[in-house]
Amino acid sequence: MSPDPTPTPLTTTVWWAHTSAASSRLVRLLDEGERTRNERFRLQADRDRHLLGRAMARLALAELSGCPPEFIAFDLRCRSCEDKERAGAERDRSPHGKPFPIGAAQGWEFSVSHSGEWVALAVTEGVPVGVDVERVAPARDLDGLAGYTLADPEHRAWAGLGEPERTGAFYGYWARKEALLKATGLGLSGGLRRVTVSAPHEAAEFVSWEGGGAPGPVWLSDLEREAEYRSAVAVLTDRAVDLRVRTAQETVSELLAARS
Ligand SMILES: CC(C)(COP(=O)(O)OP(=O)(O)OC[C@H]1O[C@@H](n2cnc3c(N)ncnc32)[C@H](O)[C@@H]1OP(=O)(O)O)[C@@H](O)C(=O)NCCC(=O)NCCS
Ligand SMILES: [Zn+2]
Repeated sequence: MSPDPTPTPLTTTVWWAHTSAASSRLVRLLDEGERTRNERFRLQADRDRHLLGRAMARLALAELSGCPPEFIAFDLRCRSCEDKERAGAERDRSPHGKPFPIGAAQGWEFSVSHSGEWVALAVTEGVPVGVDVERVAPARDLDGLAGYTLADPEHRAWAGLGEPERTGAFYGYWARKEALLKATGLGLSGGLRRVTVSAPHEAAEFVSWEGGGAPGPVWLSDLEREAEYRSAVAVLTDRAVDLRVRTAQETVSELLAARS
């Protein structure tokens, strides 16, 4: 049999939620560890963002795998620590890293990000995904932050921008790079400067990775949000991606309404 010349696109779904959708009735969706962590946040805004992210992930994965949300369980994996361990170095033993489903929703992958008033959840089947949302906030030392975050070609392009564009452009780079690092499971300890992406005014594209552990083919896209936010989603695949985005209202009616 000849191979299929046009493999079907990989569906990636992004659900947006506004923090106003956080409701105490969602708390019962959290497992014990999540509840304990949620209670430890000092700020209500942090509790709301964390609650929404985990509740949305459970509800979406339950829907996709056709089981009740209480059957959805997560484990955590930190690829940075796994790499350290493999190299014989000490690793952080506390539970941390990228959550992934075990049990009923095994095989699905997801990523959560929260910033300001927005929470994003991205879900794929069978391949890693990462999402990042950043609120554009004036930074005290933007030059210093850019030096620590941007790879040399990115930094050259960024430094050539006029003052008013620089802050938004910086967060545009950050969101694209962190979405990719979150997809790999390395997170920020993977090193933002190792990753080069296209400039924010160009179509989102992964350009290069410095050093070992490169991710292979990457599909990268920006996500639309209000003017003061930047966000991006990365999928580790060579397939075409069919990106489906659910608005905050759709997330409420499709996922959260029955529970809140
Ligand atoms: C975790 C991390 C990616 C979060 O970035 P952020 O911009 O502050 O926050 P975001 O809202 O975008 O993402 C948070 C979510 O990322 C997920 N996450 C945590 N670790 C992750 C990892 N290694 N890879 C991918 N996703 C991760 C979690 O779901 C978390 O949300 P939750 O705890 O509410 O469920 C970043 O802080 C990081 O990489 N930290 C690790 C740094 C480090 O050196 N740790 C020491 C041990 S290796
Ligand atoms: Zn770690």
